[in-house]
Amino acid sequence: MKVLITGGAGYIGSHTIIEILESREWEIYSIDNFCNSEEKTFDRINRITNSNIKNFPVDVCDLAQLQDAFTKIGKIDGVIHFAALKAVGESVDEPLLYYHNNIEGLVNILKCCEQFNVPNLIFSSSCSIYGNVDQLPVSESTPMARAESPYASTKVMGEEIIEHFSKVSATKCTCLRYFNPVGAHNSGLIGENPINKPNNLIPVITQFASGIIPEMYVHGTDYDTRDGSCIRDYIHVSDIARAHVMALEYSMKQNKTFIDHINLGTGEGVSVLEAIIAFEKVAGFKLNYKIGPKRAGDVKSIYSDPKKAKDLLGWVPKLGIEEMMASSWKWQQNLNNNG
Ligand SMILES: NC(=O)c1ccc[n+]([C@@H]2O[C@H](COP(=O)([O-])OP(=O)(O)OC[C@H]3O[C@@H](n4cnc5c(N)ncnc54)[C@H](O)[C@@H]3O)[C@@H](O)[C@H]2O)c1
Repeated sequence: MKVLITGGAGYIGSHTIIEILESREWEIYSIDNFCNSEEKTFDRINRITNSNIKNFPVDVCDLAQLQDAFTKIGKIDGVIHFAALKAVGESVDEPLLYYHNNIEGLVNILKCCEQFNVPNLIFSSSCSIYGNVDQLPVSESTPMARAESPYASTKVMGEEIIEHFSKVSATKCTCLRYFNPVGAHNSGLIGENPINKPNNLIPVITQFASGIIPEMYVHGTDYDTRDGSCIRDYIHVSDIARAHVMALEYSMKQNKTFIDHINLGTGEGVSVLEAIIAFEKVAGFKLNYKIGPKRAGDVKSIYSDPKKAKDLLGWVPKLGIEEMMASSWKWQQNLNNNG
């Protein structure tokens, strides 16, 4: 089994590589141009798994270089396409960068899947495609509201492109809709380490707790929720990684070409303020954060109905909010000490 991971040096890609190497005998290749990650992530993956991952430092928007990488790898059984830009706020400021990177990159991956007869594709989608929904929990059949940001829009379009592609192609396609991946590998050696100023709650918390960023804001405490802060479905990145392995195996078992969409969340909503309390509990100290204004592109409340993932893949999340916080804090402290 040869599996290509795009975005292998990234947060979810790196955890997925480790999950695969720790549980399966698959040959793994990566394509990552390090636009939001560091080369040394592969040293850490190699240390944890005692392996030697081959990464092609190629931009997936460059079709010729992508084709060259596919040719060099040889027959690929599955592609897991993580490579994309993901910062909601940045996408509001730089929409064309997001449409270019996320859409052109996906189209090129699909062209290569077709050209090189790749039988299985897993696509990183997002709960942001549902927008501001009226009905909770969100199941895969919940009608989508308007996309709240260019980033979300690239995921809606990405799913549509894959839907059309799957009708004319032999590649079996699965779109995994992640809710809010957080946490880090239990070794403390890899985790989320954004190159630019962090946007997601947990890196903001751990960097603020470490004194790396001077201030921390909770964006909006006047939402119509139980404590006024936004509600999210935080899901441990190692649970997300495991779901990719199960989704790829599920796809491989299907005889006919198909397309499916599966939520990956715990099914439980946790507010931003509750997440902060969970961090304070595991870290053993209080965070002196400030209350700031709402952010453009943020939805009020969203959590998943995880039933389909359980029914189809047999996937059930194993790790809770305190384990998510404890592993993130371990990773951040390791970064603080060792760089
Ligand atoms: N982390 C989340 O909260 C979240 C939630 C829902 C969906 N997703 C999606 O999951 C995927 C992975 O997210 P992540 O959190 O690991 O992000 P990440 O930024 O940590 O990882 C993405 C990786 O892709 C690489 N990359 C980006 N554009 C590229 C390009 N044009 N060519 C080659 N490499 C490129 C980056 O260098 C990075 O290493 C993304 O598609 C993201 O939109 C993430």
